[in-house]
Amino acid sequence: MADVFGKERSALHRLAAQSTSRPYYRPLSPRGAEVGIDGRTVVMAGCNDYLGLSADPRVTEAAARALRRYGVSCSGSRVLNGTLALHEELEGRLAAFVGGEAALVTTTGFQANLALAALLDERDAVFADMSNHASLVDAVRLGGAAHHRYRHRDLGHLGRLLAASESASESASDPGRGRGRLIVTDGMFSMEGDLCPLPGIVELARRHGARLVVDGAHDIGLLGAGGRGVTEHFGLTGEVDLVTGTLSKCFGSVGGMLIGPASVVEHLRHSARSVLFSAAMPPPSAAAALASLDIIESEPERRRRVFGHARRLLAGLRSLGWDTGDSTTPVVPVYVGDSRLCLRVWQELLDAGVFTNAVVAPAVARNRALIRVTPQAIHTDDHITRVLDAFARVRRGLGRLLPAPGGPGRTEAVVA
Ligand SMILES: Cc1ncc(COP(=O)(O)O)c(C=O)c1O
Repeated sequence: MADVFGKERSALHRLAAQSTSRPYYRPLSPRGAEVGIDGRTVVMAGCNDYLGLSADPRVTEAAARALRRYGVSCSGSRVLNGTLALHEELEGRLAAFVGGEAALVTTTGFQANLALAALLDERDAVFADMSNHASLVDAVRLGGAAHHRYRHRDLGHLGRLLAASESASESASDPGRGRGRLIVTDGMFSMEGDLCPLPGIVELARRHGARLVVDGAHDIGLLGAGGRGVTEHFGLTGEVDLVTGTLSKCFGSVGGMLIGPASVVEHLRHSARSVLFSAAMPPPSAAAALASLDIIESEPERRRRVFGHARRLLAGLRSLGWDTGDSTTPVVPVYVGDSRLCLRVWQELLDAGVFTNAVVAPAVARNRALIRVTPQAIHTDDHITRVLDAFARVRRGLGRLLPAPGGPGRTEAVVA
């Protein structure tokens, strides 16, 4: 008889079990520009706290005050007993910052994206970039809508899919009701570090009468002169129907957000299962996010600094012969291609004193394994030099095992 506990190991599980490198679930301490691992201190070049706020004394002090005042947890969902004035203050501040009528904060960014399922049903069609975050993929599955995936950042493909769905516009299960159409994309892609072609997407959404949701998990706090995200970067604030995001990256905390028209936010507040049936964002996390927002608004130099590091890393890695794809941001992917080789590169970088992220399937397509390097505003120029020196050393050591720029690491992603 089949046993649900007898499932085959996932590809990631097999890879981790077979490899002598151990890049996953490694205890690290403390957090910051440098990190302890196995009793050594190495440069932390694999953390999404781009602005370096998670250990900023102003942020930790705000969290500590909230901890003393409200305790560790709300022990209940927002709807029944888990809403604090802190959550409402954060929602007001985030709506004003990102540029929307209203905001809903959730316990994680993953849950904010899952909440989108409440906008969908099987009569609708979603058009999604193939590199979208897993939480957006799961939201569409949960919502039961038809899922059309367009090639990464390919406006032509998106346009063709939208046009094709128009000719089949009537919902099969409910004749007479047109299909609701929704385009969903990451703003700044979490693995590739490139940006969605937002102006073209906005134009296609308008032309085809589709709603548009942008996940600003990586770009809110980082992109745009004021740090308001990819919409500000492209001068399109207010042109996106709904923006989602996380507080676990630029805000150095934990939590998620949805920002858009008040009527839609109210609908999500009362229907999204990931909101209704999960405990509220803990008070210290909400207070930390508010303190971080003050810093994001008042210290633009942090953004300049992290982008300076990113430019130096991208240029330095390319001149060493590494393939960094199309990234123009502080998510610096270094394409290795093969998953096993990627784990080996990760281990050698660690041996050379640098902690990075080994990213393999299912986070990327099987032939697109990469080392993700993420600088932070709290890194010094010397930290960046040490990262580049480590990559130079690994390249010398592994030599021809590695793909040349334009080699296997650059082949088009095939997303299952
Ligand atoms: C693009 C994107 N969306 C959503 C999330 C989920 O955010 P959280 O970590 O707050 O659950 C992430 C986090 O990895 C992400 O990269």
